Amino acid sequence: MAYLSTDKVEHHHHDVIIIGAGGAGMRCALQLAEAGYRVAIVSKVLPTRSHTVAAQGGMNAALGNITSDHWHWHMYDTVKGSDYLGDQDAIEYMCRAAPQLVKELEHQGVPFSRNHDGKIYQRAFGGQSRAFGEGGQAMRTCAAADRTGHAILHTMYQQNLKAGTHFYEEFFALNLIMEDDACHGVMAMDIASGAYHLFQAKAVILATGGAGRIFKTTTNAHICTGDGGALCLDVGLPVEDMEFFQFHPTGVADVGPLISEAVRGEGGYLLNSEGERFMERYAPTAKDLASRDVVSRAIAVEIREGRGCGAKKDHVLLKVDHLGKEIILEKLPNIHELALRFAGVDCTEQPIPVQPTAHYTMGGIPTNRHTEVVKQTASGEEEKVAGLFAIGEAACTSVHGANRLGGNSLLEIVVFGRACGHRVMKWLSEHRYHKTIDPDAWKAGVNRVEHWLADDADKPTNIASVREKMQDIMQTHFSVYRTEDVMNEGVNAIESLHHEVVKTSISDKNRIFNTELIEALELENLMSLARATAAAAANRKESRGAHARDDYPERDDKEWMKHSLASILQDKVVLDYKPVRTTPMTVESFPPKKRVY
Ligand code: FUM
Repeated sequence: MAYLSTDKVEHHHHDVIIIGAGGAGMRCALQLAEAGYRVAIVSKVLPTRSHTVAAQGGMNAALGNITSDHWHWHMYDTVKGSDYLGDQDAIEYMCRAAPQLVKELEHQGVPFSRNHDGKIYQRAFGGQSRAFGEGGQAMRTCAAADRTGHAILHTMYQQNLKAGTHFYEEFFALNLIMEDDACHGVMAMDIASGAYHLFQAKAVILATGGAGRIFKTTTNAHICTGDGGALCLDVGLPVEDMEFFQFHPTGVADVGPLISEAVRGEGGYLLNSEGERFMERYAPTAKDLASRDVVSRAIAVEIREGRGCGAKKDHVLLKVDHLGKEIILEKLPNIHELALRFAGVDCTEQPIPVQPTAHYTMGGIPTNRHTEVVKQTASGEEEKVAGLFAIGEAACTSVHGANRLGGNSLLEIVVFGRACGHRVMKWLSEHRYHKTIDPDAWKAGVNRVEHWLADDADKPTNIASVREKMQDIMQTHFSVYRTEDVMNEGVNAIESLHHEVVKTSISDKNRIFNTELIEALELENLMSLARATAAAAANRKESRGAHARDDYPERDDKEWMKHSLASILQDKVVLDYKPVRTTPMTVESFPPKKRVY
């Protein structure tokens, strides 16, 4: 084991290390680099392949360019959309900041679509209202056609190159360097060479994205393996609200790729096998633009009651052709291409077969609204984890609560990317020097890899089959509708499957660009997140947002208006809970009430 010696580990010192090169990480890096800090992004993919690139429909901000609007109405919609589980201080902060950040992106070069008057184009999205729901549909989602994430990510990358952010591309993060309850860096592996790198930093920011690949059918790219959450679980820190996993109503049937909510925002609508616009029954006012949990549940009921389409009656149809070819190709060019490629359908002529598909991790690494990672003390107090920050989909800040509104994810990444930049600069002004760390700090990360590369011919090599089993279990037992028996079976199945990971090996023992090795490391990460998700879901005895139970169909604010915290301690999932922050920063709280659309 030549690599088990410290002289084989390359050491780096930066002021700040950001793990992940999506929109959140890059927004934060840009601010720090422009302020003159030595900031580096460690990313397992080339930055412009980060999953932000896949975001389609747009980014919410109450600009009022088409309909009247106000950030306070945006806040109301977001609190309501979250099924009252969102932290209202963080939600207020996000919605107030939104217009300024859209303008900032515009000035940085994001090519937003335009109205005839030259202002930024805004489309309707789900759960958007005016005058606290009294004044009809708002058009709040700022869009660059249906490739908004692509436009933002590329702009951010160019701006970071200009500002001098250092990129370690195709480096895989192995473990956090924690000493005295503080984070001092990260151990990583250069995927191309297999070489080990120890990054010391005064602040570490986790911006690693979501964990959609715990499910079988998902809009998420293969890279969405919950790496940041798993790094936290590995050092005894919890993940929050993992039971709330968003199923997007319109993934391409059977395969999963995203068909943007923008299609319904532009006037598309859903049909069942009887040709009925069924959303009128479930959400008489908002119809197809009700929030995502409501639409996904409606589709699931239509399918369950035999009104699904196709030979297997397992999907519904999204009709868009009535908009006309010109509008479709101007506003939804990417959808036109996706429908052709993945469903074999020309949507200017035929409806697109769709079904709910795992889309967004509402839970994640617990943070306050300043993006500082927090944990609970034994006496129930919230305590910051020194030197550690989390942003974007990896984090649970929690602005989405039990159900995220479409268009709030691209917003979250820039708002909290900036908030993180502010807070990290404050932290750096108080922590000016690198700490001297344990000379053996590199070992845990190295062992994690060497264990897979060891000669273990007696073990089966079935990474892919364990991953498939995990995805099947999660899809079957923790889908749109959930019940006690089905979830308990799922928990048991996931718990026994996780023991199979250590009994497995890989066939490729090379160090150079070993993709089987990366898949094994990602499987470890996914499995930790799947265990946390399953346990938290099985224990929540109510229906709220994306967590819909047949056996507990009502929301129970008395018992369950609280965030879950799942940790893995001595290889067991341990659950705890903490209160929702119902007090906003400056305005009055929105108290829970029945959600109707
Ligand atoms: O439907 C969409 O375009 C997705 C947007 C989002 O998840 O925010």
